Amino acid sequence: MTHTGFSTFAWLFFACCFCYSIAFPTNLNQEASNDRPVIGILTQMISDEVMKPFGKTYIPSSYVKYIESGGSRVIPIRLTLTTDDYETIFRNINGLVFIGGAVNLETSDYARVAKIFYRLALKANDNGDFFPIWGTCMGMQLLTVLVAGKNLLANTMAENIALPLNLTNEADSSRMFEGFPKELMEALTKEPITGNFHHYGLPVKTFHANKALHSFFSLLSTNVAENGVHFASTIEGKRYPFYGVQWHPEVNRFQWDGKHNFPHSAHAVQLSSLLAQFFVNEGRRSLHQFDNPEEEASSLIYNNTPVYAGNFTGYEQIYFF
Ligand SMILES: *[C@@H]1O[C@H](CO)[C@@H](O)[C@H](O)[C@H]1NC(C)=O
Ligand SMILES: *[C@@H]1O[C@H](CO)[C@@H](O)[C@H](O)[C@H]1NC(C)=O
Repeated sequence: MTHTGFSTFAWLFFACCFCYSIAFPTNLNQEASNDRPVIGILTQMISDEVMKPFGKTYIPSSYVKYIESGGSRVIPIRLTLTTDDYETIFRNINGLVFIGGAVNLETSDYARVAKIFYRLALKANDNGDFFPIWGTCMGMQLLTVLVAGKNLLANTMAENIALPLNLTNEADSSRMFEGFPKELMEALTKEPITGNFHHYGLPVKTFHANKALHSFFSLLSTNVAENGVHFASTIEGKRYPFYGVQWHPEVNRFQWDGKHNFPHSAHAVQLSSLLAQFFVNEGRRSLHQFDNPEEEASSLIYNNTPVYAGNFTGYEQIYFF
């Protein structure tokens, strides 16, 4: 091939590529895809005496590992910042996690900051700016308080017990369980692979009686508390990518204290892995980003060092702030 011949060939080739991309722009960009997601985890206030010497707020490393295992990086979100700061952080991150704990869900700093992010997320999703939120245990309870506008929780004690889920019909058509293999769905209803560590919860009756809640969320599973009350154990936003589990998927792979009933079977591990991947994949659909790589690097939790806590808590390691 002569030099000119090659040029012509190359020109045709590029022209062709160009035409192709002109012809299918919407197909290529239909779903945003961000392969460098960053998920924010809201720090939790310390209520446990043994943890007080280390700081005012914390994140157990099990939640961080859980999110990292789905293919994301994590930033901790402190509770001491201004509303402006939180708005900036919101524009930087691709999803948010509310972890468990024991604080007032209406009057605490934790609740105050959560509400700021919740409102930002509602508005963003309404404007086509996809932004997912995940709540675990008290984090799920917090989502119900935010959506209902009041605290409807009741005693649904299920403390230190692993349970199978009583799946509803809606679970079959849920996004959360969509990619689950049949065998795992079956295990989910038969094997005790969801760890429960809670005193309060949302009674199923309350869920069905409250219009704000049942029009916002699909109820995917229920469980029975020690006092016989049926409580909502898994919920998923109908129009919003907001997800709540009353149980703890992160313990299945990242907590080992022998005094706790942490499920560690192969199915328990698979369940935890798939849910982490599911949520991070939701985060990939957000195109929020940091203004520059330096700011991103200095915000990541890699800058913090967890403390060994296996000898004084049920966690292996904890980040303190
Ligand atoms: C499962 O949930 C249904 C309602 O959806 C309820 O009637 C049934 O009692 C529950 N079963 C168990 C074992 O919790
Ligand atoms: C836990 O272990 C660390 C060493 O890894 C030690 O410094 C600390 O005092 C221990 N804490 C308790 C409460 O035993």
